[in-house]
This record gives sequence, structure tokens and C-alpha cells, in this order.
Amino acid sequence: MALVSEHELSEIRGLIENRSGILFDESRDRFFTTRVNEHLEDRKLARPGDLLRLITSSNVEYDSLLQRLLTQETSFFRYPAVFEALEKKVLPELHTRKFWESPRSLRVWSAGCSTGEEAYSIAMTVADALEFADAWNIHILATDVSRKALDHAEQGIYDPRELETVNPRQRELNFSRSGDQYVIKPRIRNLVTFAPMNLAQVVYMGKFDCIFCMNVLIYFSPERQAQLVQRFYDYLEPGGYLFLGHAESVRSAEVNFESHTYRDSRIYQKPAASRRPAILQERA
Ligand SMILES: C[S@@+](CC[C@H](N)C(=O)[O-])C[C@H]1O[C@@H](n2cnc3c(N)ncnc32)[C@H](O)[C@@H]1O
Repeated sequence: MALVSEHELSEIRGLIENRSGILFDESRDRFFTTRVNEHLEDRKLARPGDLLRLITSSNVEYDSLLQRLLTQETSFFRYPAVFEALEKKVLPELHTRKFWESPRSLRVWSAGCSTGEEAYSIAMTVADALEFADAWNIHILATDVSRKALDHAEQGIYDPRELETVNPRQRELNFSRSGDQYVIKPRIRNLVTFAPMNLAQVVYMGKFDCIFCMNVLIYFSPERQAQLVQRFYDYLEPGGYLFLGHAESVRSAEVNFESHTYRDSRIYQKPAASRRPAILQERA
């Protein structure tokens, strides 16, 4: 079978980076080439060159290839220290700060939520740990560029092995059995709204108390990472928190997050009285 040429691979790589922000550099070259050629074979196209033409002219075809290139690895409570920090540090702080607000609202964004485990872990932690949770308007927005992942997330149905990182008490409280699978209960499901969103496109989002964007930035170029971290900073309320994956940081951006270490995790807080980064003040 004919394979996609180097030139076409490079064009496809550029198109994917341009539209989705995902960078396939040398370290992921083999993965990229294999997946594109698998896609070519599945689509049964007469000539390798037809693939580039197809994905350039059709959004459906582009999405179908993108789907094959996304890494969707995730799990419930992926970084236990992050969820402990949410429970023991962030939520009590928000409770104190917003105590006199009426209505009291909590807005959290899981950006790059994959199949929903991260968003439901946040929802379980909030429902469990937030004092007087019923007195709050809790809204967890969970977004991803992958429709397929979002369909899975919306259904909220998981295999038993996917619940290995959920402790027995939370499993009992938040999931019901359906045959040999587990279904997230409405009390948790109703706290989360799933929506398609491409992080490479700038959209007005309003303000959030917490943003989780874990294991997404690693796939972006340093420039895109910096832009996204800057946007997260702008989207956060003063005093709000950003949670990134273990291999990610805010270093690339000119933002003045305060960094807190919580066990093996680092979390970033926007200063309560928002100051502009020193470098920007100098330029003003
Ligand atoms: C490795 S998963 C991380 C899932 C979860 N945040 C976690 O840490 O367990 C990365 C997710 O980012 C999503 N993603 C990649 N590029 C994206 C983009 N441009 N816009 C939105 N989501 C994107 C992928 O579809 C995938 O679901």
C-alpha cells in the first residue's frame, strides 16, 4: 500500500497544529506517521495525496483524522494530591471568601476533560467537601475538542477497572451499577456541563474560581502554551486557582501566578488583588 509522503505529512502536521494547537514534533513523529497511514488505509483512498485534499476541504474528514491523533489517557483522581488540595485548601478558602455572597457561586472549568473522569472527580470532591453544598450554585464546565470523548463523558458509564482509583465510599455514594458497569449518579452528573471546545480558538468564557487543564499543554508548542496560560490567568477570578499536569508549568507565560506546593503537586493561584506582571508594568 502507498504511504503518505514526507511532504504531505508535513502539510498535515501544519494543518493540525494550526487548527488544534497540537504539535507533533520529532518525539511524536512515529506515532503521527503511523496513525495518519492507518487512517489512509481505513478511508480506502485511491492515492495518499487525496487525504490532504479531503481534510483541507471537509471539517468532518478533518475531525475524523484528528480523533485518531488525540491522546485521551485519563483516570479518576489522576493526581490524588491535586484533589486533596482542592478539598483541604481551595474549597475551604472559597467558602470563607464567598461566605456572604448571595447567591454563592462556584465556577470550575475542566479544559481538555477527555472522557469525563477529571470533571466527575472535581464534582465528587466538591459535593463531598464543600460546606453547605446545597447553598451554592455549583457549575462545572467540562470541554474537549473530541466529540467522541464527550459522548462517553456525557453518558457517564465506566468499566469497573476504570473505578480502581475511586475509593469504596465514593464509589458507593456516587455510582450505581448497571449490569457489569458503573453509572455516575444524577447528583454528580447534574453538576457538570459538557461542551465541545477547541482550546486553540479564543472564546469568551466568563470568570472561573478554578481551572483544571491537566495534561493538555504538553501537546502544544511553547508559544501556544504561553498564550493559553495567559488566557487562563485572565479567565480566573482574583484568588482563583489553576491546576496543571505534573509535567506542565506556567513558566512560558508572563503571568504572576503564586505557586503553592501541595505534596507532589504544584498549584497556581492568581493573586487576590490582581497585580500586573512586573515586566508589563515596566512597559506601560
Ligand atoms: C491526555 S488527555 C488529558 C485528560 C485529563 N485532563 C487528564 O489529565 O486526565 C488530553 C485531552 O486534551 C484534549 N485536547 C487536545 N487538544 C485540544 C484542543 N485543542 N482543545 C481542546 N481539547 C484538546 C484531547 O482530546 C484529550 O481529551
